[in-house]
Amino acid sequence: MTDKTSHDKPWGGRFTESTDAFVEAFTASVSFDQRLYRYDIEGSRAHARMLAHVGVLGNDERDAILDGLDRIERQIEAGEFEWSVSLEDVHMNIEARLTALIGEAGKKLHTGRSRNDQVATDLRLYLRDQIDAVCAELRRLQTGLLDLAEREADTIMPGFTHLQVAMPVTFGHHMLAWFENLQRDRDRFTDSRARVNVMPLGAAALAGTSFPIDRHYTAKLLGFDAPAENSLDAVSDRDFVIEFCANAALTLTHLSRFSEELILWASAQFDFIDLPDRFCTGSSIMPQKKNPDVPELVRGKTGRVTGHLMSLLMLMKGQPLAYNKDNQEDKEPLFDSVDTLLGCLRAFADMIPAVQVKADNMRRAAASGYSTATDLADYLVRKGVPFRDAHEIVGSAVRIGIDSGRDLTEMELSELQALSPAIGEDVFEVLTLEGSVSARKHFGGTAPQQVRAAIARARERLA
Ligand code: ARG
Repeated sequence: MTDKTSHDKPWGGRFTESTDAFVEAFTASVSFDQRLYRYDIEGSRAHARMLAHVGVLGNDERDAILDGLDRIERQIEAGEFEWSVSLEDVHMNIEARLTALIGEAGKKLHTGRSRNDQVATDLRLYLRDQIDAVCAELRRLQTGLLDLAEREADTIMPGFTHLQVAMPVTFGHHMLAWFENLQRDRDRFTDSRARVNVMPLGAAALAGTSFPIDRHYTAKLLGFDAPAENSLDAVSDRDFVIEFCANAALTLTHLSRFSEELILWASAQFDFIDLPDRFCTGSSIMPQKKNPDVPELVRGKTGRVTGHLMSLLMLMKGQPLAYNKDNQEDKEPLFDSVDTLLGCLRAFADMIPAVQVKADNMRRAAASGYSTATDLADYLVRKGVPFRDAHEIVGSAVRIGIDSGRDLTEMELSELQALSPAIGEDVFEVLTLEGSVSARKHFGGTAPQQVRAAIARARERLA
């Protein structure tokens, strides 16, 4: 990075002393906003074309600018562009280089615009692409979940509430629950894209410009749905950044909960699943260890992105209209949220199809813990016993089971009949795990046939 005094800065005209060296570094954003270069150049191309379209630039000037921008883009991509801290940010670095390359015409590019509308435009173009990337990864993970759910549609596991065995469910059904979480997440990102895809360019510093710009023309060139309605709002709004981070934090919260399950299930105490070695690491001291690092890290990174959401909300809460330099602080949390979310989604999308289910262990766990007690209560209700009485009767049966170390299926018919004469020979069918899950065959239930139907519907919704 090179050094200059403020007289060499694009805004240096009214200044009589050069910027304090520390202040220069303190106020610069080029170290992190250079990642916006492609969008900055794309925005400049559209702006130059629009200026020529309305007659503010000559066609020769426009072509010189477009040619210079192409060269700059190639230099950056080849790693040959020297970024200068004294030129503060990505916008002034590129503009200064353009003028160095093509001369007078380069100085005209900034006509009718400001860095305030420029940075807001760059950020929206960037985020639009990132939302598309996030949605693609979400879809890949969702597809993996559906494949796993299909493979394990009949596999029975204990369903939990309060992390206590509650009722048997199918593993496929459990995976579909996570599918639904991610479907809502993807819907939220898709909804938010429409609010991102509005163009600030033309708002200039805050009040618009005296040049006869055609914002609809520029918006069309950049693929925006429309120019922003209000110039003050256009340069000061960062709702779209906050909304992305809120959606990212919520998506990661879902992945964090899912991670917690995978970590529990992979433990010796549950032993429900095996995570492939390639997603785990060992311990430097304990030779037997195989640690579920990927889900643990996803759980950990969730806190980081939630923190970014909080910092962005705090960043905005005291700002008057319109643009304030505070807004420069929006980028690092946003970029880190994007990187973290994409990394977590990628890890999950790669890992989920490779999860190995230990069906026997799940079944054993479901068969203990009185998971079909509710089925017995429902059975009594069907025989005419009021539900509250049925609940009481089954509670007594469970008590006897606990005291004698037996599950309900291991009890004598006579023992059960002593609790309620409504109990008949047919009770043992409803107490089986298969009987329990297949009885829940209504829409949204855990029965394998419903799981298969839900998978078919889910594949349509993904298409
Ligand atoms: N680097 C600035 C940012 O990220 C660009 C806009 C600066 N505008 C200004 N008037 N200083 O927000």
